[in-house]
Amino acid sequence: PETVTVQELANRMAERGANVIKALMKMGVMATITQSIDADTAELVVEEFGHKAKRVADSDIEIGLVAPQDDADKLTSRAPVVTVMGHVDHGKTSLLDALRQTDVVSGEAGGITQHIGAYQVTRPSGQKITFIDTPGHAAFTAMRARGAKVTDIVILVVAADDGIMPQTVEAIRHAKAAEVPIVVAVNKIDKPDADPNRVRTELLNHDIQVEEMGGEVLSVEVSAKQKLNLDKLEEAILLQSELLDLKANPERSAEGTVIEAKMEKGRGSIATILVTRGTLRVGDVFVAGKEWGRVRAMVDERGQRIDEAGPAVPVEVLGFAGTPDAGDDFVVVEDEARAREVAEYRQRKEREALAVKSARGGSSMEQLFA
Ligand code: GTP
Ligand code: MG
Repeated sequence: PETVTVQELANRMAERGANVIKALMKMGVMATITQSIDADTAELVVEEFGHKAKRVADSDIEIGLVAPQDDADKLTSRAPVVTVMGHVDHGKTSLLDALRQTDVVSGEAGGITQHIGAYQVTRPSGQKITFIDTPGHAAFTAMRARGAKVTDIVILVVAADDGIMPQTVEAIRHAKAAEVPIVVAVNKIDKPDADPNRVRTELLNHDIQVEEMGGEVLSVEVSAKQKLNLDKLEEAILLQSELLDLKANPERSAEGTVIEAKMEKGRGSIATILVTRGTLRVGDVFVAGKEWGRVRAMVDERGQRIDEAGPAVPVEVLGFAGTPDAGDDFVVVEDEARAREVAEYRQRKEREALAVKSARGGSSMEQLFA
């Protein structure tokens, strides 16, 4: 069943992981910080710490937003969510741009696109792939630290004329730590000094065995510049995603993750939300991190107004009372009173945590200059 890790639960209660492990031990449950516990156990732990285990969405605990698994018969296939990572200048942005141009839908609409931090392409076959446009490693790590697991697959871009570089290694480390499968894109194969074989060999030193080397990691030689093999890369992504058997229940109130958020003059706080389960609709009331709001309008990556967004669909949402943070969870709740209650609870928690910090002295100077 769908569960929550001890770390995640601790984060959300603003408690130390060690204390949560101790509480679990008292209940006869042995778990390490990275292990998962079920929703019922999580609820007991939450109460053990004196928090009231309020249920926000259907059966989610307020603090943990512990979401039980949806009934199997409600699950339907969803698009994979893909993040592109790699060393500086190896062609991440170029590749995202090139992949975006493969979208048959935006082609029909005249190709006017706007940057909303994430976009979805539809292949001629009708299959869809969602790309997240923002994360550098820092954003990826921040999101992961906050328990947001948004990416299903990491595309590791390695320039064929440059090979494995420090940020390539870093990206591999992040993907492995997050247990997200990698698809390798050996880019810039149009260059005269391109040496894809060297890339594949060097990858062995980092525990990545691509198929050509007898391993199982999919890898595709591409040129973002000349738009070579982009269809093959998309096929590799879809193949990998089939192995993951990605599913979600579209028939429930929406949950998602804040991909990016900003304040815009005349429009107020807006955020790009990636819906992870359920369907988000105009008029829905939500909590996002410490903020809440009501969906006033939704805009897709082509600038089109849309009325609803299902699993793996990224949308720009208008109607926030305040600006949330990237990586915040986003949960639709039943009414404004509940939304305010949860947002205020979380704001109070944060103030308390800050007060404790400054009471300890130490960091008050830092805070003064922060
Ligand atoms: P940062 O965002 O700075 O980390 O770089 P990036 O990884 O996004 O790389 P970007 O897409 O900006 O490309 C860097 C340079 O490589 C640009 O000058 C691109 O035109 C060039 N480039 C990208 N892909 C290819 C390719 O397939 N072939 C060739 N020849 N050049 C490429
Ligand atoms: Mg870039």
